[in-house]
Parts: sequence; structure tokens; C-alpha cells
Amino acid sequence: MLSKVATRQFSKSASTAYKVAVLGAGGGIGQPLSLLMKLNPKVTDLALYDIKGAPGVGADVSHVPTNSTVKGYNPDAIDQALKGSDVVIIPAGVPRKPGMTRDDLFNTNASIVRDLAKAAAEHCPKAAILIISNPVNSTVPIVAEVFKNAGVYDPKKLFGVTTLDVLRASRFISEVEGTNPVDEKVTVVGGHSGITIVPLISQTKHKNMAKDKRDALIHRIQFGGDEVVKAKDGAGSATLSMAQAGARMAGSVLNGLAGEHDVIEPTFVDSPLFKSEGVEFFSSKVTLGPQGVAKIHDLGELADYEEEMVKTAKETLIKNIQKGQDFVKQNP
Ligand code: NAD
Ligand code: LMR
Repeated sequence: MLSKVATRQFSKSASTAYKVAVLGAGGGIGQPLSLLMKLNPKVTDLALYDIKGAPGVGADVSHVPTNSTVKGYNPDAIDQALKGSDVVIIPAGVPRKPGMTRDDLFNTNASIVRDLAKAAAEHCPKAAILIISNPVNSTVPIVAEVFKNAGVYDPKKLFGVTTLDVLRASRFISEVEGTNPVDEKVTVVGGHSGITIVPLISQTKHKNMAKDKRDALIHRIQFGGDEVVKAKDGAGSATLSMAQAGARMAGSVLNGLAGEHDVIEPTFVDSPLFKSEGVEFFSSKVTLGPQGVAKIHDLGELADYEEEMVKTAKETLIKNIQKGQDFVKQNP
């Protein structure tokens, strides 16, 4: 006989059935991310799409014994992959090689993201869209412009995935403080590249960290991506830690859609925080709910050096965002 707890769990999972699509599922991030989404009990239908290799990844992941269907889709079936999706995660596009900035990826990835956004706007206009493809500071505005052009833009449903910066911040602060990363919560705001990544150390329990140590920590969080690019030596950038970060963010979005309370993640969204200064998208803590974004939190109290970092981040973000918007205007 089922215990009361087991019965409750069963009825809860039965009321939270979601279709998730991964676009770029054959790639370095896409494959482990697809596996992690297969392990999420809220996902009942997993659609894996890529320009190459998705049916193979789909067949492979489908053997994992969780209660969901999995299918890999080729380019001629993107409509079927997207139809009915509640959440679309996009890690499609090229990664960096040593010596490149994320912005150097713009020329290739902008059109990939634009075309996938067009397909999503047509086939699942109400889905939550999670953008991993770099440069995130520009690809998120690209998706917004495409959805606006299609007349289906809902700012509450578009997320730039900055979660890897949050994971790195927890990990790196625990390394310098000799603590368990699980106990280290660091809010990271701004954007997702170099100096636009602003970890708020003053809001952690280590706010009195010595300046030298703190500067080195902040630099490592801002440029953690370069460590992986350098170590992979031409074979790409972070994939496994990114898959973990993407699965956490997608899991939180699903938890929000399912009506769970106090689901909060820092993420790069269409934000009112600095709109009057021309910064249309900004990452800060966001409460996730049944409609997507439920509340955008302000930054809280900042140390003087953090005020300066946010100021510098905003200057770069304005340019990155404009670049994405201009691309869609010129190449609709
Ligand atoms: P990858 O080259 O291993 O995989 C990319 C996949 O995208 C490939 O399978 C490719 O076939 C597919 N693809 C290309 N064009 C496509 C299209 N039009 N439609 C569908 N699929 C398409 O690269 P990766 O290491 O998985 O990285 C992917 C992207 O994620 C890069 O832009 C990278 O910079 C970015 N990234 C972002 C973060 C972040 O924190 N947001 C972290 C790591 C990597
Ligand atoms: C990261 O932060 O690891 C990603 O944005 C990939 C990269 O290019 O560094």
C-alpha cells in the first residue's frame, strides 16, 4: 500500500507535466544537459533538436529509466520539436577558442539564435526561453527583438542563463575560505562576460575579506570561463559545469511554473532596474513563478567598490544589448 507521503508525491508529479526542448542538443553542453533534463521528474516530454546528431542523443538518453518520453529531431522537424514546449533551452552555436572573447562569437551565433528564436516564436510562442548561446549579453536582446517582430514578446518568459557565474562564485569563494560550496550563496549581477559579471561579495558572510584576496576572487569569477577555454586548448569552452548550471536554471523555471514558492535565481532579463539609464536587460535575483518572471529584485545594499563595478558593467551592457538589437533590425 502507498504511504500518504508517496501518494502526495505521485499526485504532485502528475500535476506537473512539462515538455522541454533543447536546441543544440548534440553539442558539448547539449548532450549532458539533455541527460540532466531527463533526470528532472517534472519533465515528461523531452525534445532534442540539433542540425546534426539529435536522433542519436535522443535514442541514448531515452534508455534512462525516468518517466518521460524522449525524441531527437532533425532540422526538417523543428516544428514538431517545439510544438507544445513549456521550456526551450538554447545552447546552439559555436564556443570560444583561446584568445577569443565571447563577443567574437557574435558573427556566427547571432544568426543561429535569431533563426531558432523565429522558430520558437512561431511554434511555441508562450514557452519560457532560456538562452545559453554566447554572447548572452547580445543573444538575449536578439531573441526579444525576434519575438517583438512576431508580435508574441513576453518579457516574463525570456532568460539569459548566467547560472554558471553563480556556481563558480560559490565554488571559488569556498576554495579561498576553506568552506563547503553548498553553504556559499553569492548573488551575481550584471551580465555574462568579463567585467559585466559582478559578484556581490559584500552580501555574503565574507564581506570583510581582505581587499587583495577579494580582488583576486572577483577576477577569477569574472574570467572563470577563460580558465576552461585555456585548459581545453582549442576544443571548446565549459560544457559539463554549464550543463549543470543550465539544468539548475531550467529546473528552477519549471519549479516556478509549477507554482512552487520562493524560487529565486539570478538571471539576465528584460529589467526595469536601470532602464531609465538605457540598460534594457540586466541580471539580478529574479523570483520565478507560474508566468515566468514573478519579481525582479533590486541589487540591495552595495559596497562602494561594487557600485563602481555595476557602473562599469552598465556601460558595456548598453553596447552589447544595442549590438543584438541592431543585428535584428538590419537582418530581420
Ligand atoms: P558545441 O559546438 O559543442 O555545440 C554546439 C551545438 O550547436 C552543436 O551540436 C551544433 O551542431 C549545434 N548547432 C549549431 N547551429 C545550430 C542550429 N542552427 N540549430 C541547432 N543546433 C545548432 O558548443 P558548446 O560547447 O555546447 O557551446 C554552445 C554555446 O554555449 C556556445 O556559444 C558557448 O559559448 C555557449 N556557452 C555559454 C555559457 C553560459 O554561461 N551561458 C557557458 C558555456 C558555453
Ligand atoms: C563560460 O562562462 O564558461 C561560457 O560563457 C563559455 C566561455 O566562452 O567562457
